[in-house]
Amino acid sequence: MIQTNTYSAEVLKAVDIGLSRSPKRLPSWLFYDEIGDKIFQAIMRMPEYYLTGCEFEILRTKKDQILQHVSSQDRPFQLVELGAGDGTKTEVLLKHFLNQQKEFTYVPVDISEAVLHQLVSRLGRTVPDLQVQPQNTLYHQALKLLSDREERKLILFMGANIGNMSVDEARQFVKQIAEHMNPDDLLMVGFDLKKDPRLIQAAYDDAGGITREFNLNLLARINRELGGEFDLDYFNHYPYYDPESGITKSYLVSTVKQQVYIEALDKSVSFEPWEIIHTEVSQKYDMTMVNTLARHAGLEVVDKLYDNKKYFCDVIFRVADY
Ligand code: TRP
Repeated sequence: MIQTNTYSAEVLKAVDIGLSRSPKRLPSWLFYDEIGDKIFQAIMRMPEYYLTGCEFEILRTKKDQILQHVSSQDRPFQLVELGAGDGTKTEVLLKHFLNQQKEFTYVPVDISEAVLHQLVSRLGRTVPDLQVQPQNTLYHQALKLLSDREERKLILFMGANIGNMSVDEARQFVKQIAEHMNPDDLLMVGFDLKKDPRLIQAAYDDAGGITREFNLNLLARINRELGGEFDLDYFNHYPYYDPESGITKSYLVSTVKQQVYIEALDKSVSFEPWEIIHTEVSQKYDMTMVNTLARHAGLEVVDKLYDNKKYFCDVIFRVADY
């Protein structure tokens, strides 16, 4: 049970709104509390979750190709990373760029101060010569600040980040980024590609039950932070991949009719048997969808970097010249 009545207003509001909707829907940022961050790191290490390994391989094998795109005239540049996370993948690029004696600044952007702090102190040990300018702001604020600067920018938006938006949201988002790009700036976005549906299904439904634990942690978090009384034994984890739309949805499913009291809301939420809470979208792309996204955002594709199985693709864009 919780001791105080100081609930995080943001979490409270999101839970209240999300559980009042029909169908019920909780925003995916709620996954990432301290425990959720740890479970997600375990997801990234599990054999079924191919995404992280594939993008690692791309960065390891194509790091010089990426560098050639951004450092053509040997001018100093900025590496801006939106949603930097723990930054282990990016370190591959940072080390290579430094080894090649390139002059650049790394600008990780994240709304989580804790994550940024961790990242900066780790880079201080692992890449001590690096110039880092962390920005603890929303993405578009950071981009606005950066658009004034003279240096060329390579903006990174990697991982499954874009996949966690709907196709429409992704268009809006990439368009906003494009509006802050100068003609010689570049944007690199990671796309998880359509592939054997069983492989995708398994990535979100591993045999070891780690993803199940991750999804259920959302309810555990409500119990911890808001004095919720969810009994996790009465909720199932259910992911579903639709190969036609390329959408994976993750659900929590109530296995019985139940009422769950949440102290911070001072009310109970009712569930019918087999009623769902929708918790996550993971959009998978094909190249037609990537090209359409680029067109709608006023961008053009400069290069496509694949892993050897073609499971994942980091696409480099620039502003389209009309
Ligand atoms: N959002 C990430 C993704 O789409 C992380 C994730 C992996 C995830 N497995 C999940 C989110 C299961 C919710 C449920 O790949």
